[in-house]
Amino acid sequence: MSNLLEWQSISKSYGDDAILSNIWFTLNRGTAIAIVGHSGGGKTTLLSIMGLLQTATSGQILIEGQEIDHLDSRRLAKLRGQYLSFVFQRARLINSLTALENVMAPAWFIRKGENVEQQAKDLLEQFGLSHRLYYKPQELSLGQLWRISLARALLLKPSILLADEPTNDLDPALAEEVAQCLLQARQNGAGVVIVTHDVGLAAQADQPFRLEAGTLLPVVCQ
Ligand SMILES: Nc1ncnc2c1ncn2[C@@H]1O[C@H](COP(=O)(O)OP(=O)(O)OP(=O)(O)O)[C@@H](O)[C@H]1O
Ligand SMILES: [Mg+2]
Repeated sequence: MSNLLEWQSISKSYGDDAILSNIWFTLNRGTAIAIVGHSGGGKTTLLSIMGLLQTATSGQILIEGQEIDHLDSRRLAKLRGQYLSFVFQRARLINSLTALENVMAPAWFIRKGENVEQQAKDLLEQFGLSHRLYYKPQELSLGQLWRISLARALLLKPSILLADEPTNDLDPALAEEVAQCLLQARQNGAGVVIVTHDVGLAAQADQPFRLEAGTLLPVVCQ
């Protein structure tokens, strides 16, 4: 069986500014990798290329063995819907929708015809938000917005779950809970990629990496 995701010699520059250089790596089903690194080092850039939200300057990306560099934007969007789900660095919720509607919105398109409402409610209950189902984003705390964003990503049952600093802005107990939910997605066979400044969270991943000078280096945990 082919790897879930494979990067072959990926580089990314903005103009003359080289952000990522010659990155090779493989994400297998049911595993989690974590990426730490200093601010401005390129972690979000790396994650957005992984999520097919922007293109690499050079190199090859394969999803389940399929090369993606020749695909047009419509087919890339289809692949994103089929395989990928995100928890962004800034929880991008729709202000006019309630918490519950925000969780369900992408699933309405991607899991068409399925009744996802009960599953969405269950996820929000799991994250301690059953009393906030009908609140709008501006009526919720930062930590609550994060949990909604994570519930929205998990409802899509993605093969590849990408999270950008998912435990930022959370108190330690909640950060641990969010981390466990992310890592649990492995049990359904998902590949999980977590960008974090939290070294404790990185150590819980199957493969922790440091992004340094544009390159991914394995981190050896003590
Ligand atoms: N669209 C863009 N055009 C030009 N430069 C960009 C663009 N997006 C990001 N950069 C630059 O790329 C570098 C890496 O940014 P990125 O957001 O990937 O860093 P990061 O490691 O996620 O940082 P942080 O930990 O602060 O979130 C930064 O120097 C940033 O200014
Ligand atoms: Mg970032």
